[in-house]
Amino acid sequence: MKKETKCTAPGKCILFGEHAVVYGQSAISMGLKNFGSECIITRITEAGIQFNFPDYQKFLAFSNLIHMIENIPNKFSQFALGLKKLAETYNIKFEYVRITIKSSIWSGSGLGSSASTAVAFIRALNSYYDFKMDDNKISELSFEMEKQVHGTPSGIDNFTCTYGGFVFFKKGTYELLKIPENFNLLITYTGKPHNTRMAIEQVRTRKKENPKNIDQIFSSIGQLAQLAKKELDHRNLEEIGNLMNKNQEFLAELGISNKVINKINNIAISNGVYGSKLTGAGLGGCVISLGTKIALKNTKNTLKKLNLGLKFYNF
Ligand code: PMV
Repeated sequence: MKKETKCTAPGKCILFGEHAVVYGQSAISMGLKNFGSECIITRITEAGIQFNFPDYQKFLAFSNLIHMIENIPNKFSQFALGLKKLAETYNIKFEYVRITIKSSIWSGSGLGSSASTAVAFIRALNSYYDFKMDDNKISELSFEMEKQVHGTPSGIDNFTCTYGGFVFFKKGTYELLKIPENFNLLITYTGKPHNTRMAIEQVRTRKKENPKNIDQIFSSIGQLAQLAKKELDHRNLEEIGNLMNKNQEFLAELGISNKVINKINNIAISNGVYGSKLTGAGLGGCVISLGTKIALKNTKNTLKKLNLGLKFYNF
């Protein structure tokens, strides 16, 4: 066994199809290089399992797996689930290990911090204990951990954080797409953390109240994702921007946009971007804008002047 192993996983952002993807529609997402998570496994001399979450200033020590499963705070329970599944599958007693998990992703921003930390964690354990899991298996286990966090996730986050790049996703199947040249994206964090479980629940309630209308919206969003896939092949960035704007309109109809998101979108459009929309669960989180470097720079400068405490990431 190695003395120390470190593995990383990217964050993600959904370009098309959030929410509709939960109901089986197509979606497109992309991995965010240099904006992700890392997990370090260290061999220690003390018996037991230690967890270190520097982002939360939390250090947890457990005497063994059962002690950990019974006592880990709810916030981190997905990691206990991951270890339990690995212990069952590979008949491993986790002991004498410290697991450090950290992420540069803004928490609650919709950029996949939970999926990214799950993938980095499973990857690091896979490497440290030499389980010989392939990427599919890594994504599958991360999906189990995601269910613990979000309830009924579609699986797009764990796929994207495992494979990176551009991912076309539908009902648990995926296709990796080519990244077009000059694909410049500005990601703006509204500063308001979102709650994926709550947003999914809100959409589910709307669907119960008005199933025909909401199903129609889901299917239109799915069609936009299919069209966007073609336009990505043709590298038609302007048309991809138009499709993003249409996707945003449908997301607003689902009730998951808000004033700040609308404001950011409007400012981006008035600065000449191709398209702009919320990304992820909505009701906060982030907005993505696609455009030329200069349009995105002007957008960012205008937004900064508002002093709304926004944060920015350029892809
Ligand atoms: O993880 P978030 O907050 O970016 O949300 C993921 C997008 C949803 O479609 C709302 C949920 C899902 O599992 O696909």
